[in-house]
Order: sequence, then C-alpha cells, then structure tokens
Amino acid sequence: MATDTRDETNPMPRFPAGFQWGVSTSAHQIEGAVDERGPSVWDTFTAEPGRVKDGSTAAVACDHVRRYREDVALLADLGVDAYRFSISWPRVNSPGGLDFYDRLVDELAAAGVRPVPTLFHWDLPAELDWLERDTASRFADHVAKVVDRLGDRVTRWITLNEPAEHTLLGHALGTHAPGRQLLFDALPAAHHQLLAHGLAVRALRAAGTFDIGIANSHGPTWPASEESADVEAAAFYDLLLNRLFAEPLLLGEYPEGLGELMPGDDVAADLKVIAEPLDWYGVNYYAPTRVGAPQGAEIEFGGITMPAELPFSVREIEGVPTTDFGWPVVPEALTELLTTFKSRYGDRLPPVIITENGCSYPGLDDRPRITYLDTHLRALHDAITAGVDVRGYFTWSLLDNFEWAEGYERRFGLVHVDFETQRRTPKASYAWFREVLRAQR
Ligand code: NOJ
Repeated sequence: MATDTRDETNPMPRFPAGFQWGVSTSAHQIEGAVDERGPSVWDTFTAEPGRVKDGSTAAVACDHVRRYREDVALLADLGVDAYRFSISWPRVNSPGGLDFYDRLVDELAAAGVRPVPTLFHWDLPAELDWLERDTASRFADHVAKVVDRLGDRVTRWITLNEPAEHTLLGHALGTHAPGRQLLFDALPAAHHQLLAHGLAVRALRAAGTFDIGIANSHGPTWPASEESADVEAAAFYDLLLNRLFAEPLLLGEYPEGLGELMPGDDVAADLKVIAEPLDWYGVNYYAPTRVGAPQGAEIEFGGITMPAELPFSVREIEGVPTTDFGWPVVPEALTELLTTFKSRYGDRLPPVIITENGCSYPGLDDRPRITYLDTHLRALHDAITAGVDVRGYFTWSLLDNFEWAEGYERRFGLVHVDFETQRRTPKASYAWFREVLRAQR
C-alpha cells in the first residue's frame, strides 16, 4: 500500500473522470415537521422515556422541511455533484407529502445538484412491521408512487439504507426503533427488507429507471487473536454484518445455510427477486470491528449494549484514535474492505459508490474530521488503484442532525447546526471539502 500518499500535506490524488462527489442526509434525522405527516416507528420509539440518550426527539431536528432552500444553497456553495437524502414513507402517505420532495428536487435541479434519494432510511410508517412479509409489497407500491411523481427528474435511486443495522439495532438488540430484542429471531426482518429491495428494483425498472443501488453498511471484522474461538467469532460477525446482506443481493444466495432460517414458503423464489441486478452497490463505511469469543457477560460498545448470549463479543481496537462516539479511526480498513469484496465477489460486484463515510466530533474548527475524511479519501483511492471500480463518494453528513438513540450530542455535519436557533455555520471541514472538490475539477 502506498503509505506515502497518506501525508495530508501531499495533494489529494486525482479520482477517475466522472467520479461523483456528494453528501448524505436522511429524512427523519433532518426534516422535522412531524405534525405534517403520520407517525413512523421512530416517532413512537422516541416518545418512550429512556430510548434516546439526551431525551430528545426529531420533532424539529434541522427544520429542513422549512429551511430546505438554505440547505440546498449550502450544497451548491460546497460544489457537490449530488445530494443523497431520503424520502419519508409516512410523509408520502400523508396528504400533500410528495409536494415537499417535488419542491426539493426542483430546488436541487436549479442549483445544479443531482438528487439521489433513498427510499427507506428506517422511518417505517408506525402501522407497518418488517416482521410481516406484506410490508415488502407495501414498500414496492410506495416506491411505484414515488417514482411516478419524481421519476421525470430523479434518475438515480437507492432502495434501502443499512438493512443490517435496522435489523440488528432495531429488531435484534432493541436500541433503535422499533425497539425489539429478538436476537436471532430478528432474521425475518432482514429477509423482508431484502425482499422489499428486490420488489422495489422491479418497480423502478418498470418505471424505466436504470440507475439503481442499495446502501449497505459494511466493515472488516478482525479477530481479537489467532485463537480459533476468536477467529470463529469474528467470522460469524462478518457473516452477519457483511455476507448476510451482500450475498443474497450479489450472488442470489444466503451464506452458510442461513436461508433455512428465513421465513416464507419459497425462499429460493424470493432470492431471485432479491438478486435483481443492480447498477451499483452502495457501501456505508465508518470503522472496522475487532471481535472475539463471547465473554459470558453483557458488553457496552459504541453506545450499544450487547447481551451475554451472543456468540461473539466486540472488543476495543487498541492503538488507534477514536471519534467522540468512541469509533476507531482506521482508514486503511476501507481499502481492505473494498479489496476483500472485490476478491470475494469478483465480477458479481457491480461498481461501488461510497454512500456514507464520516465521523462525529464537536466544534467548528473540526481538524479531526478533516483528518478523518482526508485519510479515508486516500484509502479509497488506494482501493481504486488496486482495481476496485469505485464511482462516487458521499460523506455523512451535510448537517449536524438527530443521531438516532444518541440524540443531538453526536455531530456528524460539515455544517454546524445550533438547534436552539437553527442557525447553520459551515465548519472548517466544509471549507476543506470544498477545496478538495475544486481541485478535482
Ligand atoms: C449510518 C446511518 O445510515 C445514518 O443514519 C447514521 O446517522 C450514520 N450511520 C452515523 O451513525
């Protein structure tokens, strides 16, 4: 690996022609205006005491529904090619709900920024449930409705955001909405989301869309030692985080017999739907995970409590810096992740787009965020040099926002938001990213 290119004083290497640069957000984390739509599982979850660390809700968040023009102006000034946002399913279900996205898409077009909407980013309508198979076809109907309205101006679509985290945190561990603690009985929620994805791809294709991806969270999992119990535990974690979601999509099969645990009369037929060809594969990358054999006790890690009965335990990665969330900062793990995917899946892996990458740090003079982004971009470039076809990079996030169970304390934005006044102030990282983008033109 060309470690000399990691020196921040060296110019950023040039990314391939046509590489798409962007930033990401999601509806529930920024929109506010909750009284203008029906409730999502996140509204009911945050209303329960103790669910969100600072006791906050996303009722106002960044007030983006009212302030979207100012936010699009920030995107235009930053100079990104594209903006990844999500469309709230409960808002679309509410009278006039699609009008907001209509206006947003028009505003983006006027600013010369390409819209890249995600069709599901965890804010499921409160009356629906991913344990029910029918939710998958309801999603396909929803997608057909959205593409019918926006498909004349939106040409690139993302079906789901991080079904792995939504399954793990929302249905297995219960730290996210809908707050279930089903452990391995959460697997149907994974299968139904994947099925929903496949049906959504079909709905989008039927509407004439040819630029479709999914945003999955992935990261290398490293064994705590070479002991076989640690190696096996790490392989199992890799199975759950990476392979369970990548392989049905890319290979049309569940890894290692997991298919037998999935619900439905004909999982093989479902897999044909799930494996509808993708135009690109979205990767959300934040950090690698060190994993060892279970320790027979509950473990607190990165704000999550992991029960003792899990067949693995997450360990600290020593000797690396961490973000204020406690997440390890290991840029070369991004290179490793992408080259591993390439060698695992070969030509079955479509072009990759990094749909999220970022970090939480406080302050306006956010040097550590600049270092994080700089080193990760160089690591991404290393993956491209090593032969991985990467077509774009979206950083998380444009704005400080509602960071789920962490509330407003974790700040991921290039732009600071004062949640009392809604004042937006670009941070040092915003100016830095703008210069990176200018130099790439
Ligand atoms: C992944 C999720 O998609 C996003 O909603 C979240 O804010 C970031 N990671 C940071 O945790």
